[in-house]
Amino acid sequence: MSSIVVNNEENSRAERVYRKVKCRSTTLIIMNDISRKISLLRREYSSHPLSRRSVDSDPMIQFRHWFEEVMNADQPDPEAMTLSTATPEGRVSARIVLLKGFDSRGFSFFTNFESRKGKELSVNPQAALTFYWFTLNRQVRIEGEVEKVSEQEAIEYFKTRPRGSQIGAWASPQSAEIPNREILERLVAEHESKFGQYPIELPPHWGGFRVKPDCIEFWQGRESRLHDRIKYTRGADSWEISRLAP
Ligand SMILES: Cc1cc2nc3c(=O)[nH]c(=O)nc-3n(C[C@H](O)[C@H](O)[C@H](O)COP(=O)(O)O)c2cc1C
Repeated sequence: MSSIVVNNEENSRAERVYRKVKCRSTTLIIMNDISRKISLLRREYSSHPLSRRSVDSDPMIQFRHWFEEVMNADQPDPEAMTLSTATPEGRVSARIVLLKGFDSRGFSFFTNFESRKGKELSVNPQAALTFYWFTLNRQVRIEGEVEKVSEQEAIEYFKTRPRGSQIGAWASPQSAEIPNREILERLVAEHESKFGQYPIELPPHWGGFRVKPDCIEFWQGRESRLHDRIKYTRGADSWEISRLAP
């Protein structure tokens, strides 16, 4: 029988705080106090309405309006987005990456092609991106097929990265298991001495992906959870716009 063990220095207190539940061969330990606190977290979202009439007919222009607004809204890391990918068998994984550009072709980010996301995208080039801009009570959801950005684009972007990040892209076998941090530091030191003062080239295992949206949803938090959701779906030669229930 496997079990999740609590640190029960004060055993009697732990009994009050945690509830053990037998579930098949596993003992589940439910954290009563924190779960209750989480369930009570609540705030109202009051914001300007979003309607089919008020949005641009082109979602990329609408995204641009919202991005300009969030850049003036004291929102930390507005370019941080959750990237979701999946294996061909349908096992989904998600992580944060940084948006590095968008245009009529789609939304791009940079990463290691040998990472988990890189491998998943190479065999299943579909992804979802999610932005949450809490200062504006806004969420944007993007889905679509993924392509690699051109090597030239990747080279241009790589040149703008600080030298330490360029070395990191060479040195870190992203997503591979490593025995300790010293190994990573040794790899960094080896690459630093290899490159010396010379310019650092784009690593062959590193570059960009672009998510080419076929649907984009703009979500605006509203009072009493009656949020506005406007969804664009790519049609043959234009975007269809619909409203979704919150
Ligand atoms: C704020 C933030 C920004 C990040 N930006 C990137 C990024 O642009 N590219 C990247 O490869 N990883 C980025 N990461 C790290 C990823 O979340 C993730 O740990 C890494 O890419 C390995 O993911 P994978 O094993 O699923 O491939 C960022 C993490 C955070 C928290």
